[in-house]
Amino acid sequence: MRQIATAVSRWGLIAAALAMSPLSVGAAPNPAVPAAAAAGAASAAQDKAIAESLAEMLRDARTVISNNQDLINNPALGDKHLGGDRVLQAAVALYRKNTGVDPDAIDPNSREGRLLRAMMKAIVMVMADNQTTINEQGTGFKGFIPAVFGRLVAETFNGLAGNEAVIKVTAPPELVRNIKARPDAWERDVIKTKLLAPDWPKGQPFSADVTIDGRSAYRIAVPEYYRQSCLACHGSPKGEMDITGYPKEGQKVGDLGGVISITLFR
Ligand code: HEC
Repeated sequence: MRQIATAVSRWGLIAAALAMSPLSVGAAPNPAVPAAAAAGAASAAQDKAIAESLAEMLRDARTVISNNQDLINNPALGDKHLGGDRVLQAAVALYRKNTGVDPDAIDPNSREGRLLRAMMKAIVMVMADNQTTINEQGTGFKGFIPAVFGRLVAETFNGLAGNEAVIKVTAPPELVRNIKARPDAWERDVIKTKLLAPDWPKGQPFSADVTIDGRSAYRIAVPEYYRQSCLACHGSPKGEMDITGYPKEGQKVGDLGGVISITLFR
């Protein structure tokens, strides 16, 4: 119940931030706030809204793969009829349900619309690329799981977004399985000093304005926690091989399992 309330209020803020254009800030100046500071706050709020929108779409698409895992793993079936359009439609439906916003209604010429559509295109492309694997008859477990799918979507998105945005799913260093997911210095520090701090509010992202190679950027780290369903692979007994061939990490429900890390260049 508490989680639902948090989600609703978070998305309320995001919707408000998206509605707040620099123009409307200028039109209703707060005399107590210098114009530059107000514009900066507005752009940080918009960056946050865009980043959380991208994270939401990635999470929703991963959930669709998770919901179809038994179908994907079914050795008796050939064609699973689980193509890019079907996965995208289901992800968009989840996005709508979770946020109250229709992604297709977001102006494609806006920065959010452009980046969100790149994410949606990446979802379709990854599903198209993996049809042979998914439809292989006679093989049960094919290694096509939400984490792998999510990584491929992030990599594809990064190619489409050019030098405008980067998304990556990372994790606390001792939990990282795929070398490509290793946290960089900023992510390591945020995970250690913020997201893993005993008093850090569960689920709260951490964000900051940073400079990367001389470019000004907004970075945000959105925490993700293990649920019961994750523990078949990431749970106990620690060290025992999971179905994917990695040793289990001995984690528990509620432990910080990963971080969706997003960089938006300005
Ligand atoms: C079927 C086994 C399995 C299940 C279930 C599973 N994972 Fe994983 N997870 C993996 C594998 C394998 C990888 C490495 C994927 C890759 O190659 O990028 C991984 C990678 C990750 C990563 C990326 C960082 C890294 O270690 O490479 C995160 C974060 C993660 N898992 C969190 C979760 C969470 C949270 C859940 C539950 C919602 C979950 N996993 C469920 C097997 C699993």
